[in-house]
Order: sequence, then C-alpha cells, then structure tokens
Amino acid sequence: MKPLDHVAIILDGNGRWAQERNKPRTYGHRHGLDKIFDTILFAKKQNIKYITLFCFSTENWNRPEKEVKWLMDFPVEAFNKKQEKKYIENGICVNWVGRRTKVPNETKKTLEEIEKNTKDLNEIFVNFAFDYGSYEELENTFKIVFNKYEDKNLNIDNFSFQEILDNLYTKNSPNIDLLIRTGGEQRLSNFMLLQSAYAEFYFTKTYWPDFNEQEFEKAINSYKLRDRRFGKIEE
Ligand code: IPE
Ligand code: MG
Repeated sequence: MKPLDHVAIILDGNGRWAQERNKPRTYGHRHGLDKIFDTILFAKKQNIKYITLFCFSTENWNRPEKEVKWLMDFPVEAFNKKQEKKYIENGICVNWVGRRTKVPNETKKTLEEIEKNTKDLNEIFVNFAFDYGSYEELENTFKIVFNKYEDKNLNIDNFSFQEILDNLYTKNSPNIDLLIRTGGEQRLSNFMLLQSAYAEFYFTKTYWPDFNEQEFEKAINSYKLRDRRFGKIEE
C-alpha cells in the first residue's frame, strides 16, 4: 500500500453554500468552521499523520471588509480554551503556516498559544494555513536563506534546493501526498506550490460546509487507485 502521510485541503465553497440558502457569506464560513475539527479527527482515524488546511489566503484580503474581519477573527473562536482542550485530549499538534505580521493581535496570540500548548503532541500534525500564500512563503524563505549566506559569507555555489525546503513554513512536514479541493474549482490558488510538486489532486463539487467522512473517504479511495511514479518507470 502506498503511504498517505500528508493530506492538504483547500476549503472552498462556503460563500456559494450560503448564497444558495439566501444567507450572508459569513453564514457559510460559520458552518465551514464547524467542519474543521471533525475533519482532523477523521484524518487521525485514517492514520494520516499530517493535515494542512487552507483557511485564509494572502489574496483573501481583497474581499469586502466585513468578510475579511469575520475570517480574521474566526481562529480566536476555533482555537479558544474549550477547543484547545479537545485538541490536547486528542493528541493534535497545531502549527500555523503563513505570514504572522498582518493578522490582528488577538488572532496571532490565540494561534501562537495553541501552537505552544500542543507542540509536544504527535498523534496528528495540523498545519493551519492562515494568511498563507506560496509567493509570500517563498519571499520569507528566500530572505532567511539570503541572510544566512550574507551573514556567514557563504559561497552561493554550495546552495541547494534543500535549503529552500528546510526554511518553508512547512519545513517540519513531508511533501503533500493528496490535495483535496472542495467547491468545484480546479486550481491551486497559490497554495503549497512546491509542497504539492508530486501531490495527487482530488477535486469535488461538494462545498466545504457539506464535506463529511464519506466525501473524505471517496478522496482517499481515489488516491489509493493512483499510480504514483515520481517520474520513474517500472523495471
Ligand atoms: C472558502 O470559501 C473559505 C475561504 C477561502 C476563506 P469561499 O469564501 O471562497 O466560498 P466561495 O468560493 O465564494 O463559494
Ligand atoms: Mg472560493
């Protein structure tokens, strides 16, 4: 059986889910938020070790102010003390991947708090991608690497791609095996461009608030049928 260590999900379709019900978009986000914890538990049950959830992109700042505010505040609720207890009880390690300089203080505090309080847990590792975009991540990574070369006066000829991988926000996770996008769109939207170099993609029309165990299982079953060659051919 081929390994399935790392699943990433682009949570999409909250707005359309709400609009179909004649509700404001934030109503969809509210229902979407409620899906996050159960999805993590299901991944754990499936022995998936890493799950990355794309919850706010560096481009999502371009949405109406009210919606941005709702989305910026939601981690405070998603990872409040009561929720944190559930994460700890289930051995879930939470890691925030994304830019840390632009989100509101309260949100930053909440996310860094849950990171700190779950850092020694290892039943499953959750990458919470929030204010995340691959271009920004690369900017950040290149700065780290360039600074190292400058400070230590290193020779650029010795530079290797591994140094980029070692300084990404996801440096502690293996590459993505299976990337799921809900909501019907078939694109990456600046999400984990390097980490998904050899990922298998699964697109479903199901909106994120309707995503459930059956849907997740369907994606896993589809993955199981894929022939992953990584550029090689069988002898
Ligand atoms: C996903 O749902 C949630 C975020 C990206 C924050 P959308 O808000 O993108 O919902 P649609 O795509 O407009 O339906
Ligand atoms: Mg969308």
